[in-house]
Amino acid sequence: MTTEHGSDRGTERNPGANGKPPEKVAGTIVVERVTHQEVPAICALYKKVVETQPGGLPVELLKGWTPTPLEFTSWMEGVTYFVARRDGRLIGSVGCEVRHGACQLVHLVVDPEFRRQGVASALLGTAVEWARRANAAVVWVDPLAKLTAAVGLLKQLGFSEVGVLHKHMWAEDVRVFERQI
Ligand SMILES: CC(C)(COP(=O)(O)OP(=O)(O)OC[C@H]1O[C@@H](n2cnc3c(N)ncnc32)[C@H](O)[C@@H]1OP(=O)(O)O)[C@@H](O)C(=O)NCCC(=O)NCCS
Repeated sequence: MTTEHGSDRGTERNPGANGKPPEKVAGTIVVERVTHQEVPAICALYKKVVETQPGGLPVELLKGWTPTPLEFTSWMEGVTYFVARRDGRLIGSVGCEVRHGACQLVHLVVDPEFRRQGVASALLGTAVEWARRANAAVVWVDPLAKLTAAVGLLKQLGFSEVGVLHKHMWAEDVRVFERQI
């Protein structure tokens, strides 16, 4: 399954300094299933995201988000991963796991250089479509409450907040969001 998401949102999103024209971000966002050849690139993306995250996140979480190629290959056994590319560069990823007719989204990341350009929205659009075809009735995701960008994204994409699990992961609150599909 390949989805193309025409997007030049970067043109509007990154206004240049000193009144210069905004930096133009070329290319369409393409979302596809990850291939085994891309495992090193996806591990490099997770590492970059973790290294650029602001402080305050549990070290266990950060460690869990930096798989080795071997670890990521084992993640792929139970989870369907989609990646986003622009101009051939891998810039985002999300995993989808269907259990009991519900699809959980895991390990959603976007390259910090390409944020607020619709990359996560494109990934989640494809993930929701994939979940629908897999006969899931709902898509759900449980970000740490501290991940405010993820919370903003999920609300923007029409997910409803259905609960908070207090001190659920490494003593951090977790917010639970779902979207009926
Ligand atoms: C969360 C994350 C995946 C969002 O990726 P993204 O590609 O920048 O998201 P999009 O461009 O598709 O954003 C769509 C909308 O989500 C909301 N949103 C995205 N980032 C936001 C932020 N930092 N603050 C508030 N709202 C935000 C906005 O409504 C945005 O629309 P707008 O840009 O028109 O205002 C990215 O910030 C990231 O990788 N964060 C670190 C890892 C993480 O938190 N993963 C989620 C685990 S569940």
